[in-house]
Amino acid sequence: MIRSKDGLGCAAGHHFDRAKEGYWNLTQPQDKKSTNPGDNRDAVLARHHWLQRGHATGLVTALEGWLAQSSPHASPPRRILDLGCGDGSFGPLLFPGHATSFCGIDLSKPAIKLAAKHWPEATWVLANADRGLPVMDSSVDCVVSLFGRRPVAEIKRVLIQAGSCIVAVPAEDDLIELREAVQKRGVRRSRVEAIMEEMHDNGLPCVEQTQWRTQVDIGQDEIEEALAMTYRARRWSEKSRISALETTKVTLAADLMRFSQNEAFRPQGGTA
Ligand SMILES: C[S@@+](CC[C@H](N)C(=O)[O-])C[C@H]1O[C@@H](n2cnc3c(N)ncnc32)[C@H](O)[C@@H]1O
Repeated sequence: MIRSKDGLGCAAGHHFDRAKEGYWNLTQPQDKKSTNPGDNRDAVLARHHWLQRGHATGLVTALEGWLAQSSPHASPPRRILDLGCGDGSFGPLLFPGHATSFCGIDLSKPAIKLAAKHWPEATWVLANADRGLPVMDSSVDCVVSLFGRRPVAEIKRVLIQAGSCIVAVPAEDDLIELREAVQKRGVRRSRVEAIMEEMHDNGLPCVEQTQWRTQVDIGQDEIEEALAMTYRARRWSEKSRISALETTKVTLAADLMRFSQNEAFRPQGGTA
């Protein structure tokens, strides 16, 4: 890609604009018709408000230890790619001081606009992370996917040999109390084994694994945010069950995994 005053151009003659809000629009016509166009505005704002309340502070602390050691060449890592970055809240929390080498990718326009507004020094890209990453081979120290996308073969392609990929997914009992109250059943399903297998099969074995969990009391506004950001409670009957809930104690829990092709597994056990 060659950068000009008003955008980026590639050897094949394609031109990509830089939006006035400061993000790069690398979407292609087929992305607009995608059945998964990224989060809508309501979900993005709900997640943004939820994170601003500090509900992920403990998660950030749990990840910090890994970030400090995730690249022997740069500690903390220098070139960072956040796949499915959402409103971008995690970037400055996890990588303060690395704005100029941080790039967040998301397919949701409301999300990437918020991200570019709040951390304008970083690079924000509106693109479909499932269709090839706009990044050179072996050029990234650390890929993060926090409840985001995992195009595994592409992650492997862009990571440097000593790089790491850090993945966070909801644990099986994340928001279980709300799910039980609203949907009348709370399915518990761990994603860990399937993710580890898929990453391993693509040359990225898991080298560290842990869990972060906490319990918080939340009121009506937060209950609505939690459900909106996870697209729960879509049906009318479910919505009426939410309005019956005033405050509740909820479990927040995430499975955290670090993948690297260069290291041996470090048993950890316990919960962060
Ligand atoms: C659960 S949110 C997580 C956002 C952020 N990482 C966080 O933890 O707050 C998932 C994000 O993935 C984005 N997304 C979904 N499909 C995508 C795709 N194909 N390419 C890029 N981003 C995508 C959504 O727009 C959304 O912002």
